[in-house]
Amino acid sequence: MLPDEMQTLTDAVRWAASRFEQAGVFYGHGTDNAIDEAVALVLQALHLPPDLDSLYFGTRLSADEKARIGDWLQQRIDDHRPLPYIAGEAWFAGLSFRVDERVLIPRSPLAELIEAGFQPWLDPEAVERIADVGTGCGCIAVACAYALPQARVDALDTSDGALELTRANSADHGVASRVTAIASNLLGALAAEPMYDLIVANPPYVASERLDAMPAEFRHEPRQGLDGGVDGLSLVHPLLMQAAERLHDDGILVCEVGHSWPAFEQAYPELPVTWLAFERGGAGVFVITGHDLREYVPNHG
Ligand SMILES: C[S@@+](CC[C@H](N)C(=O)[O-])C[C@H]1O[C@@H](n2cnc3c(N)ncnc32)[C@H](O)[C@@H]1O
Repeated sequence: MLPDEMQTLTDAVRWAASRFEQAGVFYGHGTDNAIDEAVALVLQALHLPPDLDSLYFGTRLSADEKARIGDWLQQRIDDHRPLPYIAGEAWFAGLSFRVDERVLIPRSPLAELIEAGFQPWLDPEAVERIADVGTGCGCIAVACAYALPQARVDALDTSDGALELTRANSADHGVASRVTAIASNLLGALAAEPMYDLIVANPPYVASERLDAMPAEFRHEPRQGLDGGVDGLSLVHPLLMQAAERLHDDGILVCEVGHSWPAFEQAYPELPVTWLAFERGGAGVFVITGHDLREYVPNHG
């Protein structure tokens, strides 16, 4: 697929970017424009680091390398397969994770909060127990284990494939002794005691009727990672009730609802949540303490 006259990395990047624009591929699984997407594809296909010195972009491609880039371009353009699935790798909070079509591609703005150790909401040194609801490839659970050095993380999902990848990623990052992958419908499989300092959730939150209108790239992702039911909040409603029973008073629930935040505000106008702002972009993430959740839930559950 890569024409013979394309000889260098720069040639491959420029040509790929033109083909992406021509084909109308969707960016949003790691990059947001054609050039960055092309650079990422070429470097990953060649097993080169993401920060490769520009000096090497003028070097020539071997026939095998051209064939590999061509194969990846075909998957990206003809099948609209997101690059992280082709490469088998995604980046989150500065860490590399194995991914495949059994899990959503990591992209949550929560990475920024995790890197900050959840400050000012929590003291990173004091956090002992975390539950990550809907862990997918385990990106949030593993990144939390890095950022909160005393913490043990229960990584929960209903998908066996997700739990398998979570175990592999925890082992790759050397945190398997502190991250436990557990098959669980929300918090259902957890014991009532002890309580948690932090419950973090990036549940599926796309309203079902919006799913079919999404770009073809999203159809490669597992539907159970995206589909949030009629109002996008079908898992968030029970999660609020369950989290109220399992958080310390000064523990927090951090939950992403993305573009379903207006539906959330409509459903819970009196719930004293704080909506977070992110420097690197993204919105629709709220925080609430265990105390405030418990004050509210008995009257509204
Ligand atoms: C939006 S993805 C988030 C994946 C990962 N935490 C991330 O941020 O990239 C939602 C995850 O929730 C899982 N899930 C769906 N329903 C669930 C349920 N009832 N209980 C637990 N996990 C569920 C899906 O399998 C999927 O892995």
